Amino acid sequence: MVLHQFAPYVRKQLKLYIAGFVGSLFRFLIPLSVPLVMKYLFDGLLQNETVSNVGKIRQISLIAAVMLAVFFLIRGPMEYVRQFFLHKANNNIIKALRTDTFRKIHTLDAKYFAEHRSGEIGTRFFDDIEKIRGYMTAVFSNIWIEMIVLIFVIGVMAALQFQLTLLAVSLVGFQFALAHLLSKKLKLTTSRMMKYRSVLNGFIFEKIQGAFLSKLFSTEKKDNEELDRHLTQYEQLTDRQAKINAISLAAVNVLSDATPFIVVLAGSLSVINGNLSPGALIAFFAYVDRMRSPVSALVQAFPAIAEGNVALRRIFEFLDIPVTVKEKERAVPFHGFQDSITFRNVSFSYTPDHEVIKNLSFTLHKGRTYAFVGESGGGKSTILQLLTRIYDPDRGEIRIDGIHLKDLSIAGIRNQMGIVTQDNFLYSSSVKENIRLAKPDAGDEEVIAAAKKAYAHDFICSLPNGYDTEIGERGVKLSGGQKQRIALARVFLKNPAIILLDEATSALDNESEQLVQKSINEAGREKTVIMIAHRLSTVRNADTIFVIRNGTIIEKGSHSKLMALGGYYKKLYDQQNPEKSRAPLSMVNTAYENLILQSRHTMI
Ligand SMILES: Nc1ncnc2c1ncn2[C@@H]1O[C@H](COP(=O)(O)OP(=O)(O)O)[C@@H](O)[C@H]1O
Ligand SMILES: [Mg+2]
Repeated sequence: MVLHQFAPYVRKQLKLYIAGFVGSLFRFLIPLSVPLVMKYLFDGLLQNETVSNVGKIRQISLIAAVMLAVFFLIRGPMEYVRQFFLHKANNNIIKALRTDTFRKIHTLDAKYFAEHRSGEIGTRFFDDIEKIRGYMTAVFSNIWIEMIVLIFVIGVMAALQFQLTLLAVSLVGFQFALAHLLSKKLKLTTSRMMKYRSVLNGFIFEKIQGAFLSKLFSTEKKDNEELDRHLTQYEQLTDRQAKINAISLAAVNVLSDATPFIVVLAGSLSVINGNLSPGALIAFFAYVDRMRSPVSALVQAFPAIAEGNVALRRIFEFLDIPVTVKEKERAVPFHGFQDSITFRNVSFSYTPDHEVIKNLSFTLHKGRTYAFVGESGGGKSTILQLLTRIYDPDRGEIRIDGIHLKDLSIAGIRNQMGIVTQDNFLYSSSVKENIRLAKPDAGDEEVIAAAKKAYAHDFICSLPNGYDTEIGERGVKLSGGQKQRIALARVFLKNPAIILLDEATSALDNESEQLVQKSINEAGREKTVIMIAHRLSTVRNADTIFVIRNGTIIEKGSHSKLMALGGYYKKLYDQQNPEKSRAPLSMVNTAYENLILQSRHTMI
């Protein structure tokens, strides 16, 4: 099953493997001729009384010259060919697997990332794929070469003396049987061990990311205990693997050490009986000794093969994960948002037992501003996830300009949208590059203009290197509010038709929030804005406010209509804006509204 998937990768490197294989043949078979030369030297030359000493010396010199030439001119370069080509072929396969794994990461559903830790995914990418290297070396070169060497050795031995060969072969056969038996056990422990390693990696990655949190909550002790538990478990598994490996090597090595000795003892009897010449015995001894290397190489290949098989299975398991949010083969390109977005009877659940969005229907028109409000966990963010096709609804349909969302090209949809959330991810690069992500060909002026709109320009200029300051993991740390402003600048730069704001200004102080809101409102003149906000004062100006509770709309209308309704929205609003502070706050709000009105006026 797995091999069938792996085959295409190997097929692409076939030429390199063949070159490496041919190199290996020479590299192994040349040294194997040495015992035959030894036999000739001993039986045919040294003990041959018809040849004079001078003649013997001349012949030995000739043999030496030929052998040296063969070793240096053929065996040496062939060793290079073997090493280099096999290495290259293996590397190409590893590279192809890494490329495919990385591409797969981009196609995976959000669900996968919600359920798996990044460390687990990283393990596939690094450890599992690296394990393939040993496997390929074993399977695509060593095993075959060692087999050929073994067959060649056995063939030559049989030509020298058949019974002795039979003895040697049965001893070696016994070693193989033993090693094979143990390798079955090995496979199981290896699979468990590798699975556990990805759990361990997942744990470590998460703890590195959350190291600060651990300190904050003083959970270091608990973390250490957890690590201890993981390490102990992992150690038990590696110990078991090492034990099986050690037993198999111990048993096989004792046998392989004893084999030449047993064979030579039996061979000596053959020499006494006159069945074997002394030179042949020397050659025989040398060949039995040569058998040890293929046998131990083959035995040692078992763990590499076991690990490789498990790794391959894990890699292809990953590459085969079904993707549910998929683009149709003939997806309709989406060039511009024209008219409306409609949700019709949409239902969705992340987990089978908990429906998050329940039979939701609404229509949003181009150019308007909409707000979704309500208690947290109500499903507001999920609505945006469905709209951006991070997830697909279980039932019902979403249409943009009357076209089914599933029929549109995913990139097409996302190009029309700009999103800012509560928690915005910034890459480890400069501020400028992070903003430019939204429009890679934007010039510096454009980037700065966008940053100004997001009220990010001032704080960016105060950073050590201004727009070139490195941020992210290894750079300057930004506050939540600063990150939100950079994310907003991205959206301003992208200038999409639809702006999605999921508590996008939640980390800003009141003053900056109002300034940013002003920018959003300005930009929102020709845009469709969908905002989710916790602070109801920020959505007062939305054309329509949807109040979401438990995945359904319980109230909808403009701020004044909802206040007049005196329902859940009014209750929430009054809670957030208690009587005492209402006066100053409404003053601020009025000033803010004036500002917006004024700006709208100037724009018209
Ligand atoms: N990736 C997820 N996997 C499982 N449940 C989720 C996931 N994301 C959100 N939820 C659940 O879905 C519900 C709605 O979440 P969300 O849409 O984020 O609400 P809101 O944005 O209104 O606070 C919550 O009960 C939340 O626990
Ligand atoms: Mg939310």
